[in-house]
Amino acid sequence: MCGIVGYIGKANAASVLIGGLKRLEYRGYDSAGLALLDGDVIHISKAPGKVANLNAKARAEWDAGMIERAGTGIAHTRWATHGPPTEANAHPHLDESGHIALVHNGIIENYRSIRARLESKGHHFRSETDTEVLAHLIGDCDKGDLLQAVRDALHQVEGTFGIAVISSREPGIIITARRGSPIVIGVGHGETIIASDASAILAHTQRVIYLDDNDIAVVTADAVDVRDLNNFPVTREIAELGLDTAATEKGGYEHFMLKEIHEQPESLANAIRGRLDHQLGSSVLSGMGTSPRDLAEILRVVMVGCGTSLHAAMVGEYALGDIADIPAEVRQAADFRYRNPILGNHDLVVAISQSGETADTLAAVREARQKGAFVMSLVNVVGSTIARETGRGVYLHAGPEISVASTKAFTSQVSVLLMMALKLGRGRRFSREEGLRLALEIEAIPELVRSVIKQDKLISEIAARYVDNEHAFYIGRGPMYPVALEGALKLKEISYIHAEGYHAAELKHGPIALLQKGTLVVAVACEGPAKDKTLGNVEECRARGARILGVITEGDHEAEEVMDDFIAIPRAHPLVATIPATVALQLFSYHVARLRGCEIDQPRNLAKSVTVE
Ligand code: AGP
Repeated sequence: MCGIVGYIGKANAASVLIGGLKRLEYRGYDSAGLALLDGDVIHISKAPGKVANLNAKARAEWDAGMIERAGTGIAHTRWATHGPPTEANAHPHLDESGHIALVHNGIIENYRSIRARLESKGHHFRSETDTEVLAHLIGDCDKGDLLQAVRDALHQVEGTFGIAVISSREPGIIITARRGSPIVIGVGHGETIIASDASAILAHTQRVIYLDDNDIAVVTADAVDVRDLNNFPVTREIAELGLDTAATEKGGYEHFMLKEIHEQPESLANAIRGRLDHQLGSSVLSGMGTSPRDLAEILRVVMVGCGTSLHAAMVGEYALGDIADIPAEVRQAADFRYRNPILGNHDLVVAISQSGETADTLAAVREARQKGAFVMSLVNVVGSTIARETGRGVYLHAGPEISVASTKAFTSQVSVLLMMALKLGRGRRFSREEGLRLALEIEAIPELVRSVIKQDKLISEIAARYVDNEHAFYIGRGPMYPVALEGALKLKEISYIHAEGYHAAELKHGPIALLQKGTLVVAVACEGPAKDKTLGNVEECRARGARILGVITEGDHEAEEVMDDFIAIPRAHPLVATIPATVALQLFSYHVARLRGCEIDQPRNLAKSVTVE
């Protein structure tokens, strides 16, 4: 997704801006640009491709003294929405006069009508983007007060924005604003950094201000003045990030994804720490902000999310049903937000999101609140929009997840959902003895994962046998069905192999027609109520020439017999086993992609956080 960095301070804004863009690269993009304000002149350089291309191009185009001298600038990485990733479409964009430069995340939905109106007034556009239209609109509104011009322009647009604006007529300030696309402001000593993601600010300060929707701020090197779009001052507290830059470095691993897979014993321990009650056989999730009485009033849980977070919710559905005996539903967030959901005050809606910024999931939160449901979130990024708008929930404490392919966030989401089910279950018919046993099983999750990670070399050797497959089926039953879906998503998004996940029982209803000799079938067949049925499906696939990779329970010789290859995970409660089983598939997909020479951390066409619809 697009990234924004703005800087105003002592000098050499270019190095801060380029460094910030590099920290945002993991979000996915296809072009980049920056603008420096030197005296009363705006210099702009833009380039398709990587930030390194932009840096080289800007340094070749610009005077070294200007680069060193300029203390104000804005920069952007663009993930193309309107128009291809070309230099002309890259941000920043100028207004008609050339005095105002803008970078923008989000989508201006009524940009065509605004563009037509401005063209009728003589404006000329150089790009296909909605952003350039917004820049021209700000210029058209500019009567000598940039803040007023930006406010007037934003009152005319429909859609979402996170912006940073500079003007050569008003040096010494940057105007920033947000609606639906995150903006965080780093408050330094004699310098201020604006970004769409805190990872671009970490190297400069831990003190940040998060803008809320319809906030607009006048930013100088020494002050941040936040107002609403009607120019009324609003108070936004300064928060501490509590993150260090090391957390966003690779730490010696070849890819962020491998680092984050290997971090899971630690990230899971962080998710679980202090949240299990081994006296009552329950869990302590204080962020839910609910008393046992409140929880007893809940008659249904509806989980909403996208992608990997949706798969975590699907595991949660089994956990809530089996442990808490409570009806649970899973809804794809975009489907939920537009279907006028039937909800009431006895419904608990749980928004699941690593980034806490996914547009559809955020919209689902807002819709659920409109319907009077009890809303909370499971997110990883502290201070993210979904976390702040739900006001209650459980942080994953997984640390920054940089690789686009989500790994440690998923396993932490599942572990928190297991603890949520335990908490709800103990408020119903789940006994203390059952709770004590499950609490111990959850406590052991980091060790289960550690034992899978120790098989990394074996899994890499297995992966080498399937590098040339262009199609793969992932099958599972019960809670291993969403594990199969997640495994397929991991493989397809980083290796570009066409991988699909199916409920194992579904094969006979059509998909098995696709099986040919040598087709890879990954069967998640760990010990559990449906394992034997899954092994039966494996036999059906083998009968048609498929090659079977099994994820099975250690010592299950019956399962070993029907697999061409297998990864064995420790014996565990079927719901708990979903986590080590997933880690096995994460490592498998990572090594297949690595052996295929794929990009891995920033797959083509993908973004880390989908903040547009
Ligand atoms: C998963 O590997 C992808 N990165 C993607 O499906 C992701 O899970 C989805 O976009 C939801 O993101 P979120 O968890 O930040 O809301």
